[in-house]
Amino acid sequence: MLVGGRRRLGRALAEDLARDHDLVLTSSESWDGETWVDGLSKTARIRTLQWDAESPELMSRMMADLDTLQAQGWVISGAVVLAGTFPKSPLGTWTAELLEATWRVNLGFPFLCAQALAPRLAEGACLQILLDTSIHQPWLKRLPYSAAKAGLAALVPGLAQLLAPKVRVVGHALGAVLPAEGSDMAFLAERTLLKRIGDPADLCRAVRFAADSPFLTGEILTQDGGRRWV
Ligand SMILES: NC(=O)c1ccc[n+]([C@@H]2O[C@H](COP(=O)([O-])OP(=O)(O)OC[C@H]3O[C@@H](n4cnc5c(N)ncnc54)[C@H](OP(=O)(O)O)[C@@H]3O)[C@@H](O)[C@H]2O)c1
Repeated sequence: MLVGGRRRLGRALAEDLARDHDLVLTSSESWDGETWVDGLSKTARIRTLQWDAESPELMSRMMADLDTLQAQGWVISGAVVLAGTFPKSPLGTWTAELLEATWRVNLGFPFLCAQALAPRLAEGACLQILLDTSIHQPWLKRLPYSAAKAGLAALVPGLAQLLAPKVRVVGHALGAVLPAEGSDMAFLAERTLLKRIGDPADLCRAVRFAADSPFLTGEILTQDGGRRWV
């Protein structure tokens, strides 16, 4: 199950995993017109759901969808929570509304997804959560976002303790892979030891590794090209 499996990294992961997995994909919007998903159906069973962090019905929607999947015989052998936003919000622009909106989608939503999914994950499943290398070195123009990811960095080991031994929990602290529009790619690459930004394939490999590593839990895997050592 990929929460936020429609765009950018979520779509890249869906395309990779559909080679050998049935998939449930969520988006905050309707899936009408997303023809690339039809292509995935040639190799896998694909189910699409609408889960919007902003919806007041979110919790009941998630429960109802997960109950329906279970009733239809779906077994959730793993889940990746990718949903998030990356708002620029420098010091001086913060308001209660901005902070709440940033934390609702980047912190509250992953918490609620984890809570809804936890009892429905199969024995041995791995719940994976997308963090950011900002947990090591916060983005100074995106401190509210960085704080949300720091909150998820507490969720990973905490949830791993709560869900063990049935379910494992792993986080991914990613450096720049698909940078925000208008980013200076050369600058981002220069600020790593490996002198490159990441590739969606880097995440796909790590997600497969975590899913296939039964002795791994409570850990956050950092893939940032060594950014924090520069
Ligand atoms: N891209 C990078 O280089 C990078 C670097 C470090 C960390 N990360 C983390 O990796 C994850 C994926 O990155 P990305 O760049 O692919 O992310 P993104 O495009 O910013 O967003 C990820 C997903 O969040 C979903 N989303 C946005 N608002 C939502 C809402 N209100 N309710 C439910 N879902 C919502 C979007 O799906 P819909 O619009 O379909 O709802 C989108 O597919 C994020 O958690 C991000 O913080 C990414």
